[in-house]
Amino acid sequence: MSQYEIAVVVGSLRRDSFNRKLATAIARLAPPEFSFKQVNIGDLPLYNQDNDAAPPEPVRRLKGEITSANGVIFVTAEYNRSIPGVLKNAIDHASRPYGQSAWAGKPAGVLGASVGAIGTAVAQQHLRNVLAYLDMPTLGQPEAFIQVKEGLFDPAGDISGSSKQFLQGWMDRYVAWVKKYAA
Ligand SMILES: Cc1cc2nc3c(=O)[nH]c(=O)nc-3n(C[C@H](O)[C@H](O)[C@H](O)COP(=O)(O)O)c2cc1C
Repeated sequence: MSQYEIAVVVGSLRRDSFNRKLATAIARLAPPEFSFKQVNIGDLPLYNQDNDAAPPEPVRRLKGEITSANGVIFVTAEYNRSIPGVLKNAIDHASRPYGQSAWAGKPAGVLGASVGAIGTAVAQQHLRNVLAYLDMPTLGQPEAFIQVKEGLFDPAGDISGSSKQFLQGWMDRYVAWVKKYAA
């Protein structure tokens, strides 16, 4: 049985999302004591503070999944030089009501993949700002700005080529980061 459970939030709802593929592939780079669950954010309503007192079921489910996790990994697309609205919506939902945020204290990792040359760097900087406010200790290095090119994934969906070594190093650092905060 895994000792550390990590919630994975993918900042894209696209069926063939590269970021979802990346989220699936990096989970395979972790040791067996770690397990990963991609949380569903596509069924969340638009955040409305009026509903804080009685949040709908998908919101309660999301908060429960984040609360029970030992850490959170965000794997996000970049939309118009920021994070996609669906990701911000999910973050806002699980941060409320005030004082009952599910995110606080969870060790976080941030990655992103884009067809663009800077590989979601701007979106990730915006996200880091939000995570700092949410009091999530966030792994600083290595930064993972992944440009999607032919051959990034092999036919089995694993990372291939030089990116594999880089992302293995990223995962090794994140594993140590989670253990540090769990101790
Ligand atoms: C609304 C929208 C805005 C986008 N803006 C950016 C952007 O600012 N920077 C970038 O590198 N790519 C941008 N893209 C291209 C995305 O990188 C590309 O669609 C990528 O495949 C999205 O990630 P996904 O495959 O996980 O859905 C944008 C795409 C959409 C649909």
